[in-house]
Amino acid sequence: MACCEGKKDYKSTANVTVRDEGKLASILSKYEGKKGSLISILQDVQEYYNYLPIDALDYIAKETGIKPAKIHGVATFYTQFRLKPVGENLIMLCQGTACHVNGSKTIEEAINEELKIKDGETTEDNLFTLINVACLGCCSLSPVMMINDETYGKLTPEKTKSIIREIKDKQQIKGA
Ligand code: FES
Repeated sequence: MACCEGKKDYKSTANVTVRDEGKLASILSKYEGKKGSLISILQDVQEYYNYLPIDALDYIAKETGIKPAKIHGVATFYTQFRLKPVGENLIMLCQGTACHVNGSKTIEEAINEELKIKDGETTEDNLFTLINVACLGCCSLSPVMMINDETYGKLTPEKTKSIIREIKDKQQIKGA
């Protein structure tokens, strides 16, 4: 995923199951007859569900004739793909070299403290998931994290906590 792109809508993945075969069918029809489009199909499916539900992969295998083992292999090989649902807010914390040198570990600790989650975990209220990633492509802003395609740079532990609290507050106001 490119860094510093425009903000996209991220869906909550809570309770998503693959009953929306119509959506999957429309994704598949977009690539019908195009060889080598498995990665693009998986990207579209992940964009829709925010992860790759296992029954969506089964559906793709059934409809395309691609072997389930191949689909699973691609889905697990590329770090861009997620096989587990994520929280409403996906925090991608850069652990690339520039960010590492500029203190990404202290940012990770701040997130751990604030949300009580580690890399790959989701908060109990399903609001946040933390994923450590490699270079996000905006090293001059290091240390950097992205939350739902919004980029936050020049982070300090305090700034990181306050960004997270702001998102929590907004979420609480929405839910009130
Ligand atoms: S190393 Fe973090 S954005 Fe490049």
